[in-house]
Amino acid sequence: MPKTILACAGAVLLSTAGLALAQGAPAAGVTVVPAGQTAPGATPAPAPAAPQPAPPAPAQAAQAAPAPAAGGAAAAATAPAAPEETQQAAAEAPPTGGMQLDAHPSADSAASGNAGQPTGANGMFVDAAGNPTYNISAEGADWFAWRGYKKFGANCLQCHGPDGAGSSFAPNLTESLQRINYFDFAGIIVSGQQNKWHPVNSIMPAWGEDPNVMCSLDAIYVYLRGRADGAIGRGEPKPHVKNKEAQDAEYACLGQ
Ligand code: HEC
Repeated sequence: MPKTILACAGAVLLSTAGLALAQGAPAAGVTVVPAGQTAPGATPAPAPAAPQPAPPAPAQAAQAAPAPAAGGAAAAATAPAAPEETQQAAAEAPPTGGMQLDAHPSADSAASGNAGQPTGANGMFVDAAGNPTYNISAEGADWFAWRGYKKFGANCLQCHGPDGAGSSFAPNLTESLQRINYFDFAGIIVSGQQNKWHPVNSIMPAWGEDPNVMCSLDAIYVYLRGRADGAIGRGEPKPHVKNKEAQDAEYACLGQ
């Protein structure tokens, strides 16, 4: 049974890596992570076995899903289609709808709403509780939401998948944010997390010492909050509002 899970995970993993490559993700990111984890996928998956045991956490539904749907090679062949289709659909419907929440808002939006004021540091929008949030106006997404998209792509996408939608070995963050608020998020990014989402060999690195992430922690949160709320679609938020002050502050933080 664990073999089946691993093999299917491998199949999805390969397609995720392919997607990341297609999107021009840094090659280093693609090779580093999957390298250790692709091995199990090299074994062809056996025919679909009995249904998977109940996943330990709701977040794992995505991980178990490919197995019952189609086993082994079939899963590998069909897996890439779904994300591409979704991406195309999203491209046709840009996130112009303003501040609309979907049915499963982020924990912070559920608690405080997502109406923000640009009263945070360097013009960042913050909600009623003072937590970073996005702002989608007629001119486009706010700078932090856009920057967060870029920084997510550079630092998180290789594990958490394009648009934060998850992969076989790291959770869908648009779902995670429905129960993780800004405070929890910051703690996880700084210190990492192990074996909570998945019980075995599931490691979220700690980023507390990495300026590439720490200098943009709020921006990454803003982007993912918009994704979780359904206010930011797949792909790059376009257009976006420029914010020289915030960009300069990021460069200064990075020592550039
Ligand atoms: C090397 C792969 C990897 C990278 C890169 C990575 N993560 Fe993770 N992340 C994971 C894994 C695996 C978990 C699940 C850990 C567990 O089982 O508790 C996770 C968990 C998380 C969680 C908690 C989700 C939950 O539902 O419990 C958050 C939030 C998160 N990551 C955000 C990020 C952000 C933001 C970045 C980029 C700065 C990032 N991660 C980069 C692998 C990664």
